Amino acid sequence: MNLPMKDEILKRFLLAKDTPISGQSLADELGISRTAVWKHLQTLQEEGYVFETIKKKGYVLKGKPDKVDPARITSFLTTQRFGRNIQYLDEVTSTQSVAHELAREGVHDGTVVIAETQTMGKGRMARPWESTKGKGVWMTVVIRPDVPPSQAPQFTLVAAVAIVNAIKSVCKNFTPTIKWPNDILINGRKCTGILTEMLAEMDRVEALLIGIGINANQQMEDFPPELQTIATSLSIEEQAEINRPQLVAELLNYLELYSNLYIKEGFKPIKALWEESSGTIGKQIKATTLREVIEGKAIGITEEGVLEIQLDNGEIKGVYSADIEIM
Ligand code: BTN
Repeated sequence: MNLPMKDEILKRFLLAKDTPISGQSLADELGISRTAVWKHLQTLQEEGYVFETIKKKGYVLKGKPDKVDPARITSFLTTQRFGRNIQYLDEVTSTQSVAHELAREGVHDGTVVIAETQTMGKGRMARPWESTKGKGVWMTVVIRPDVPPSQAPQFTLVAAVAIVNAIKSVCKNFTPTIKWPNDILINGRKCTGILTEMLAEMDRVEALLIGIGINANQQMEDFPPELQTIATSLSIEEQAEINRPQLVAELLNYLELYSNLYIKEGFKPIKALWEESSGTIGKQIKATTLREVIEGKAIGITEEGVLEIQLDNGEIKGVYSADIEIM
């Protein structure tokens, strides 16, 4: 899918790094006039991009605003479908709501809605989700797998495995773990949540809306007091600024890879990858479901993504949805 012309120009500067690009070569390559190129460069400058003019050679991109804009994401993408249509918004109520509308309109598999901030970010169990402006990754991916609704929860685990690998490719100073079913933790603190919603008919999924919230560049004081003891960000743990567009692209690269793997080979390889990164399996846990509190040892997940807990009396209980506390 083609990017808007301004973003096509930006993508070329991002890929060229320090090599100057002339206005004429851009005009020739993109089939537009030099005046049009100049106007697009003006717009980019108004958005915060800084260009240096090198005499007789052209322009070099010297400064970028800290934004998760489509051109910057695309410059790191290696996918066929995922992230090839990105709806970028500065502010939105919730990327899930926009994704719902787009899914109903029939957008393609892998369409992404991403925003710098959400005014009504949604967490699981109708909790609010804190979405600090310009500091995190607040995005929803619309996917359209040809599966029955009963298999939808497995895609949360596909997403969890993709996120862990994306984080590992951008951060080298820690290893994230998955807390069943869909939290990513670093040293016991939450850095990422996943909210999967579904549009479906009786026997087939129309679209899955995989909502992903990653705390990327917050410092501790950016979190509200009630989160300061339980949350963290990649930047705090890595002790470095996180390149958010690169993180988003890596996430989409892995999400496409593992969605394809799931469609081709089923849940088994995903289950193995998930268990490798799990910080829940083998631990003594307390699971609070809507109906009861279960304490025991987490011994595995089933093909359906159900968490199995062994009680002290040896009985094994399956949990579909719960809040988990690791004891
Ligand atoms: C959780 O409770 O752990 C799930 C949090 C999911 C948050 C993400 S941020 C992007 C997307 N839009 C939302 O409103 N929620 C999800």
